[in-house]
Order: sequence, then structure tokens, then C-alpha cells
Amino acid sequence: TDVKTITVERRGRVGLVTLNRPEALNALNLELMTDLVAAASELDADPGIGAIVVAGSTKAFAAGADIKEMVSKDYQEMYAADWFAGWSRFTAVRTPVIAAVSGYALGGGCELVMMCDIVIAGENAKFGQPEIKLGVIPGMGGSQRLTRAIGKAKAMELILTGRTMDAAEAERAGLVSRVVPTGSVLDEAMSTAATIGSMSLPIAMMAKEVVNAAYETMLENGIRFERRVFHSTFATEDQKEGMSAFIEKRDPEFKNR
Ligand code: HXC
Repeated sequence: TDVKTITVERRGRVGLVTLNRPEALNALNLELMTDLVAAASELDADPGIGAIVVAGSTKAFAAGADIKEMVSKDYQEMYAADWFAGWSRFTAVRTPVIAAVSGYALGGGCELVMMCDIVIAGENAKFGQPEIKLGVIPGMGGSQRLTRAIGKAKAMELILTGRTMDAAEAERAGLVSRVVPTGSVLDEAMSTAATIGSMSLPIAMMAKEVVNAAYETMLENGIRFERRVFHSTFATEDQKEGMSAFIEKRDPEFKNR
């Protein structure tokens, strides 16, 4: 696959997709989303692949959706593009997907983690939904999936304060399957993927589908509602201020409008 924002490797029955925008801590821009969704769909269609691993770098799984790409967009542009809707093709992948998470998994990065089926986290992993500090809300499923994963009280606290959780707290809260030493994250994720890859692929797909049935009932409506409200944050001045402040490396001055 000839793309810039990710690398794709086949190792036996495991497909490994590595996010590769180190200059932006793997911030998820449109190009990366398009490349990742295409790679995952291609691996999903390959009967020689029994599991997919999505990994980042040691410093960052992904530091969020790309703020620089969104800062100057207005509500009409976000709505017309149905910004973030393309991620639904990632969640339509039927092959089991494992997130190998080291470092920052914030905002869209945390939301991408939650679109995966199994989460292997390094001790240095940091999870959170800091969108509120930017004058926006989660827009890639975080309000829905985090609440299901860790419960309302904890999800509210993280989404309303922007606080991050370390790996140990994320594991206690149920966001993470397993925490391992940071240097072993990829190996552990690959060996978990190889185990799944040794099973019957159609049975593994069925198992994924039924677990998701417990988890996803009514999720679609919530995801769409979240995305629409996310778009409408772009009708506020505070979104412009919050995102501009991040890019200008200063604190935002919210005006409540
Ligand atoms: C675009 C980003 C980015 C992002 C980091 N960078 N995160 N660019 N979008 N989400 C860029 C920085 O601007 C910087 O570019 C380079 O990556 C390195 O980042 P630093 O901030 O210098 O690194 P560090 O000091 O180590 O701090 C790491 C960090 C911080 C704590 C993760 O980067 C951070 O707070 N990032 C934003 C996290 C966030 O708010 N994520 C949620 C995004 S919103 P330069 O050019 O200066 O070298 C989201 C949900 C969708 O994901 C809702 C819309 C917002």
C-alpha cells in the first residue's frame, strides 16, 4: 500500500498498521483517516488475515484529531462534509482489531482506541478526552463509547474536565484489556493477534459481532447525535478561540459564545 500517513505490514496472519505522522504525534487528519480506513478494509477483505493490529509510536498512539486542520472550519463546512463520518467504515471491519497503545491516546486518539476490539496498553499510556479545553466536544464516538466503557460518572469527569488517565487507572476502569511494560506493547499485541489469527476466521468474526451486539445496541443513534452536536460547536466563537489558543501555544480566553 503506497501511502504516507501509515505503514502496513503483513506478518503471517496478522496485519499491522502503524500510524506514521511523528511530526504531529499521529494527529488524525483526513488523509490519515482515509489511509487507515482503506488499509483496514483491505486487510478485512483478505482471508489470509485473521487479526489486525493498529499501533502508534512510543510517544503517541495518536494525540487527537488534527486541530490545525479543523481550527478555521465553520459549522456549515463541518456539517456538509459530515466531518468524522468516514470513521464508521473503520468500525464496520469484521476482522478483530487490536490497539497497541503507547503514550498519548487523547481525543480522537482515545476514540480510535475505543473503536478497536482489544486494547493492549503500555505503562506510559495516557487516555483522555480533552476536547472541552479546545472549545469542542468529542466527535468520533467518545461520548458514547467512553460512557459505555467506564461508566457515566468517570466519563463525565474526563469529558467535562479534560483530565487524562494513566494506564493503571484505564485498566481499573475497564477501558483497557491489559497493561504491559511500554517496551512490550507491540510484541504483546502481535502475539494476541497471532492467537486470534490461529482461530477460525469466520468464527472469530461471529464472536466479534455478538460481543458488539451487547455493546452497540442503540450506539448508532448516539454516535450520530454526538457528531451533529460536535459540528455545531463550530458555530461558536469559543471553538475558534480554543483551537487557535492550542496552535498559538497559549491559554484560551473563552467568552461563552
Ligand atoms: C494537530 C497536534 C495535535 C493535534 C499535537 N500536535 N497534537 N497537531 N492536532 N491534536 C502537534 C503540536 O502542535 C506540535 O506541532 C507537535 O504535534 C508536537 O506536539 P507538542 O504539543 O509540542 O508535544 P508535547 O509538548 O509533548 O505535548 C503533547 C500533548 C500536546 C500533551 C499530547 O500535543 C497536546 O495537548 N495535544 C493536543 C491534545 C488534544 O487536545 N487532543 C484532542 C484533539 S480534538 P508543532 O508544529 O508545534 O511542532 C479531538 C477530538 C475531535 O481529537 C474534536 C475536535 C478537537
